[in-house]
Amino acid sequence: MSLHPDGAPVPAGVTHVMVGFGAALLPDLDRLLPPGSLLIVEEPDVVAARGLLPRAAEHPCVAVLITAPIHDEDDLSAMLAAVPRPPAVRAVLPGVEYGVSGAAALADAWGLPGAGPAAARILRDKALLREAADRAGIPQPRWKRVAGPEEVREFRSGTPDGRCVLKPANRQGSLGVQLLDAADDLDEAWKRTVGADEPRLRARRLLPTTFLAEERLDGREVSVECVVSDGRTLFLNITEKLVQGGRHPVEAGHQVPAHLLPAAPERIADVMEQLVEATGFRTGVLHAEWILRDGEHPQLVECAGRVPGDCIHELVDLAHGGSLVADFLTVLGGSDAVTRRTPRRHAAIRFLDCPPGTVESVDGTEHAGAVPGVIKVHIGVGPGAYVGTVSNSHERVGYVVATGESADQVTTRVERAAASVRFRLDADGSGGPAAARTGTPGHDSTGRSTGRHGGGERS
Ligand SMILES: Nc1ncnc2c1ncn2[C@@H]1O[C@H](COP(=O)(O)OP(=O)(O)OP(=O)(O)O)[C@@H](O)[C@H]1O
Ligand SMILES: [Mg+2]
Repeated sequence: MSLHPDGAPVPAGVTHVMVGFGAALLPDLDRLLPPGSLLIVEEPDVVAARGLLPRAAEHPCVAVLITAPIHDEDDLSAMLAAVPRPPAVRAVLPGVEYGVSGAAALADAWGLPGAGPAAARILRDKALLREAADRAGIPQPRWKRVAGPEEVREFRSGTPDGRCVLKPANRQGSLGVQLLDAADDLDEAWKRTVGADEPRLRARRLLPTTFLAEERLDGREVSVECVVSDGRTLFLNITEKLVQGGRHPVEAGHQVPAHLLPAAPERIADVMEQLVEATGFRTGVLHAEWILRDGEHPQLVECAGRVPGDCIHELVDLAHGGSLVADFLTVLGGSDAVTRRTPRRHAAIRFLDCPPGTVESVDGTEHAGAVPGVIKVHIGVGPGAYVGTVSNSHERVGYVVATGESADQVTTRVERAAASVRFRLDADGSGGPAAARTGTPGHDSTGRSTGRHGGGERS
């Protein structure tokens, strides 16, 4: 595969355009779309950093890769000028978080269904989302835009418990998100949040970012995945979420369906409806995160205008049957033919845990794969890899996915599979040579080396 030359005609078979290289969506798209039907638009820096040309060539559905400044979300005119409208185009989809605005703009310019540029803007900026939620009366933590540690200090001192959350407004994967206690050093915390970066996923030029301080909520966490057509929800799933403890709230697992108190599902569906209205979202998939006060009162954490990462769309399909990605293409193609399904079994993912140190070996992946119901074992680090403290999703070392007939059964299965994987650390590592720890590392169950991005790319 080569990059599409400027001004050259788009191959006639292209019917779909994906903005941002959605690695996790491509296996589904290969199943759902004919060969040579997908045009991908991505930032040139990201194409280079992720080695995307050979990766695109591995997928039969991909016809062509075009580079354009999709990260210029405040002014997408250069992107719009750089991407020719394929004559047979039927749908435009975001492939990653950083393609949400670009996809909405292209769909709008070409008269196709999409999020809508205004809603995409809101979903790509947590401060704009909080403003929209406040206007609509959607329950959420107190929050404020902050421009430096002094303002975080002032905000924290005004909270009832002296705790707060500091986060960037437009990133993902918990990058730069910190849960702070009353005594935590805010100068140091500020530097960490501002300095957090994803060089493989972002253009190298300076992109604007703002920061938020929020009250810290407590409670069980869920995400909600909705298929929406012209503002109407056609399918809704609730996923239970586990988050690692400590200052960095990185997602440690997900389970479908969520196990909830009886009043919770209806309340969650109600606030999701309010959120669709508050953002003005038109068509596509939403992935919203909520913390349940007292187990049943949803408070908004955030909402993304795309298919979720972390294999959540696969969990939804395993539990409900059908295909969330197919539904996404259906509504973006202008049809409402989405079946409202209910879960008929349980599915879960657990991310593996590896203490800091240099990995010497990884054992037990075969045992993990042999646990009944296990569907995937993915190990993202191999011998010699240094594993530090996990402070964002990209730094996780691997995962296991399983299904079960009950919530308890699937929980037992993923936990058993995760515990079967043992990381042995180098003598120089913090664990010492005999320190075999459970968790995850270096190759997936097919033996393919996967590099350091063991948590899987976000989307
Ligand atoms: N106000 C809050 N109170 C308590 N916990 C919070 C709050 N805001 C965020 N968190 C925790 O931090 C995690 C990451 O925050 P957030 O979802 O805003 O960032 P993100 O980078 O978009 O995350 P991701 O892409 O992983 O979903 C949340 O899933 C939640 O566990
Ligand atoms: Mg989140």
